[in-house]
Amino acid sequence: MTGLVGFPWMSFMTVRRDVHTSKRFRRLLIACAAMMIREERQPDEVAVERIVREAFGKQDEADLVARLRERGSMRYPLVACEEDDVVGFVVASPITIDPPVGLKTLGIAPLAVDPSTQGNGVGSALMHRLIEHAQADGIDALFLLGNPAYYQRFGFVTSHLANEYGATDAFMHRELTPDALAPIRGAARYVDAFREIGV
Ligand SMILES: CC(C)(COP(=O)(O)OP(=O)(O)OC[C@H]1O[C@@H](n2cnc3c(N)ncnc32)[C@H](O)[C@@H]1OP(=O)(O)O)[C@@H](O)C(=O)NCCC(=O)NCCS
Repeated sequence: MTGLVGFPWMSFMTVRRDVHTSKRFRRLLIACAAMMIREERQPDEVAVERIVREAFGKQDEADLVARLRERGSMRYPLVACEEDDVVGFVVASPITIDPPVGLKTLGIAPLAVDPSTQGNGVGSALMHRLIEHAQADGIDALFLLGNPAYYQRFGFVTSHLANEYGATDAFMHRELTPDALAPIRGAARYVDAFREIGV
């Protein structure tokens, strides 16, 4: 993974034009000025566990993170730090498409921000940085399951691919290679850790 040194101003450069003058963009500027985003390190794991558990209000997603870590399934595990404190976390993991299509695809989950810090642009900054890394590495498409009202702002659209959750609007993708998914019909599948933990 390239560019892992958390240089706060980098995120501004890739923010889409349509948000440049918005409240969201101003909030992102303020968040980035006070925040560093970098790859997760071993000493961050305790804080990441707490943040994921408290953000979701239950243990399952924190257990998922531990399982992904154990299995070597984490892609772009990123933490947001204010001063020395971890305040947010995001990670992706491989997605396979059945029948196989030969694309490089990842699913983003979980994204979590410390409840005391939510609404200040931390989640957005983590999403933008993960997308930057995936783009730089030639990932063809990203998937996620989440509220379209939040994820549309990062260029995600409801996916036409099937998913194992039976989700409709909430199962979303963003193509990083233009039209990579357009001719694809099939089902997207997360790694086994998701089924084992039951999330
Ligand atoms: C969702 C989450 C990651 C967002 O991070 P954040 O740092 O609070 O978000 P930002 O400050 O970047 O963005 C704030 C915006 O997101 C919206 N938002 C926050 N959570 C949302 C949600 N669950 N659904 C829809 N919109 C949401 C806010 O209303 C605000 O909207 P606005 O820009 O139109 O005013 C964070 O609230 C969180 O950890 N929630 C609990 C865990 C979770 O639900 N994770 C996502 C699973 S799909």
